[in-house]
Amino acid sequence: MNNKNERLAACGLTQQQLDAYWMPYTGNRDFKQDPRIIVSAEGNYYTDVDGRKIFDGLSGLWTCGAGHSRPEITEAVSRQIKELDYAPAFQFGHPDAFKLAHRITEFMPEGLNRVFFTGSGSESVETALKVARAYWRKKGMASKTCLIGRIKGYHGVNFGGISVGGIGANRVLYGEGIEASHLPHTMLPQNTFVKGMPTEGAYLADELEQLVALHDASNIAAVIVEPLAGSAGVIPPPVGYLQRLRDICDKHNILLIFDEVICGFGRMGANTGAEAFGVVPDMMTIAKQMTNGAIPMGALVARQEIYDTFMDTGGKDYMLEMPHGYTYSAHPVACAAGLAALDLLEKDQLVSRVSSMAPKLEELLHSLKGSQYVTDIRNYGLAGALTIESAPGEPALRPYQIAMSCWKKGFYVRYGGDTIQLGLPFTVETDEMDRLINVLGESIAELS
Ligand SMILES: Cc1ncc(COP(=O)(O)O)c(C=O)c1O
Repeated sequence: MNNKNERLAACGLTQQQLDAYWMPYTGNRDFKQDPRIIVSAEGNYYTDVDGRKIFDGLSGLWTCGAGHSRPEITEAVSRQIKELDYAPAFQFGHPDAFKLAHRITEFMPEGLNRVFFTGSGSESVETALKVARAYWRKKGMASKTCLIGRIKGYHGVNFGGISVGGIGANRVLYGEGIEASHLPHTMLPQNTFVKGMPTEGAYLADELEQLVALHDASNIAAVIVEPLAGSAGVIPPPVGYLQRLRDICDKHNILLIFDEVICGFGRMGANTGAEAFGVVPDMMTIAKQMTNGAIPMGALVARQEIYDTFMDTGGKDYMLEMPHGYTYSAHPVACAAGLAALDLLEKDQLVSRVSSMAPKLEELLHSLKGSQYVTDIRNYGLAGALTIESAPGEPALRPYQIAMSCWKKGFYVRYGGDTIQLGLPFTVETDEMDRLINVLGESIAELS
């Protein structure tokens, strides 16, 4: 259907309905001229309103690694919503909340064993930042408030998250956030086209020493980084970099938070980025893959000593140890989805499937080296990205054109800033990867 009105009619939409929806992270004006409407999903494919099958090259938004509409999850969700549609998260519990908390700890590195539920990645990040500050207050070190993120980091859209975040476009419109400093990013010119983790760049972690010299450790609460930066365009950590951050944090009594909203639950070919890269943080934020994207949910996972600090200083037993939480924390339907999704990861051995398919993605993606405008290619696990040389004054134009061309050819890929990003389903087959990379190459070749 080339005609917009025919397409709207086919899904029973009016122009007023199209206009009413202020879409997130979307070029609303462009979209509404030529809407891309998805009506169903199964396995690795979407179906759009024109009845076309579209390969899901980003697993939703890094969410649906186990494939779409898995019956194990949809059945668990529908069972739960019939039995317990909602239970108050404050002062009451329901069985699946405890079961899921414990199940999550089975995927975590040793020591990360206390789970605080939220409704999204952004809420998990805000929770982590608040816990970090409150933890030091509880320990009598109230001056430890400064938070350190990293340039090119993405930590969601709330004020704490955009303050520690390091993608300018996400911050400039919104004015002052909270007190935060930033480490440099780890994309070195000499590391372009490196496959997997670059060997150079661990020294960039030493910049943390400079920030300690600037602020003094007595004023710094925590460092937050994505083990692999996802939204900025799949930037794997240099070998040794995360360990160096860990060591410097230990030396100065600073908490280390890994934002694993993308890395957690398989995408790196390990249960977590922490496991893949061999470094254990003090806290980890998770979301997305934890319910396979079926129901919104996130969590903060903390070391027991952090939890115990709150318990030990919480006043009388009936009093709140931490006045924080969300109406939808541990939502029963999300918990049911989470339990089913984690069971699926295990039953279908999807985490090891990611590590066995990753070399193929690496080989295919790097075959695009030499294509016009492709100035870098990066990959790890089932995540990959291309950097595209900017059109004059318009860094995001060519990635947008590539992604739109792929969509027309039946492939969904993400465009963000000057990058094209791939987050393949863990269930991807080799021939699907072949077709995707071919189409990506064709779409790049079409650029003028
Ligand atoms: C590393 C990271 N943190 C936080 C978020 C925010 O998650 P949400 O969009 O669920 O709030 C994202 C989302 O992509 C993310 O990639």
